[in-house]
Amino acid sequence: MDVRRTKIQFIRYAVNTGETPILCTGVDNLLYWCKNFDEATNGETIVNELVSYEVGRAIDAPVPSWTIMDPGDYAGEIVRSEDGIPLTAVSRKPLFGSQHIHSTIASDDLMYIKRNSNPDRIPRLVALWHLCNARDIQMLYQPERKYSIYSIDHGYWFSSQEGSRNIIDSPDSLDGTPHDIPHLRGNLGKDNWDNAIKSVRALNKQSLEHIPDCIPGEWEQAGVAQEMVDYILSRVEYTVNKLEEAKAKGF
Ligand SMILES: Nc1ncnc2c1ncn2[C@@H]1O[C@H](COP(=O)(O)OP(=O)(O)OP(=O)(O)O)[C@@H](O)[C@H]1O
Ligand SMILES: [Mg+2]
Repeated sequence: MDVRRTKIQFIRYAVNTGETPILCTGVDNLLYWCKNFDEATNGETIVNELVSYEVGRAIDAPVPSWTIMDPGDYAGEIVRSEDGIPLTAVSRKPLFGSQHIHSTIASDDLMYIKRNSNPDRIPRLVALWHLCNARDIQMLYQPERKYSIYSIDHGYWFSSQEGSRNIIDSPDSLDGTPHDIPHLRGNLGKDNWDNAIKSVRALNKQSLEHIPDCIPGEWEQAGVAQEMVDYILSRVEYTVNKLEEAKAKGF
C-alpha cells in the first residue's frame, strides 16, 4: 500500500482550537491542516483520525485526502497564530495532515442535504459515525462545489472525548454509540441508503487490512490500529441496522 507521506516545506500559521492544528504546505506543494503527535497520549487523536479517514475511504464517505507529514527541520519550531501569538510547537514525530479543502463553511449540522451528491454522501457519513463511534462530529461544506459535504476532525472518535479510547464497549451501551448525531431534516432517497448499506456490508478483513500499515513506524501504534480495525468490523451489523432504520423512517 502506497502511504502518502511528505515533509513540511512551509508553515503558515496555527489556529487556537482544541488541538491547535498547523496549516502548512508539504514538499508535495499541497496544503494540509496538520495535527501534532501528542506524546502524552501516544498520538491517540491522530491515530483515530488516520484510521477513521481510511475507513471512510473504504466506504466512499466524504473525507479529505490525508498525508503523513514529516516535521523535518521544523521539529520543535514554535508556530504562531495569524496575528503572531505563539500557540504550539511542531512535534518531533510525524504529524497527521488533512488536505485543505478551500473555501468551506464549517458546521456541526447536517445542511444542504439535497445539493449535488450530498444525498449519496450523507448515508455513508452516517455509516462512518456508527462504525467509528463518533464524537464531536464536524462537517465542512464547499459552496463552490454545490455545498458538497465533508467530514473532518475525527480525533475524539472511538469515544476518546471523555478520556482514553474505548474499543471495548458494544453498541448496546451508551459509551459504545455515537453522541450527538446531527438531525436529518428531509429525505435522501432509499437508493442512497441502500448504496451505503452495500458499502458497509462489503467491509471485511481484506478491505481494511492495509490500515495498520498506514501507521508510520515512529508512532508505534500499528498493533493498536489492528485492534481498532477488528472493533470496526465487529460493528458492521449494528451499522447496517442503523442505516436500515433511517431508510425505513423515510430519511
Ligand atoms: N481538511 C480541511 N480543509 C479545510 N479546513 C480544515 C480542514 N481541516 C481543518 N480545517 C479548518 O481548521 C479548523 C480546525 O480544525 P479541527 O476541527 O480539525 O481542529 P480542532 O483543534 O480539533 O478544532 P476544535 O477543537 O474546534 O474542534 C476547522 O474548523 C476548519 O476551519
Ligand atoms: Mg474541530
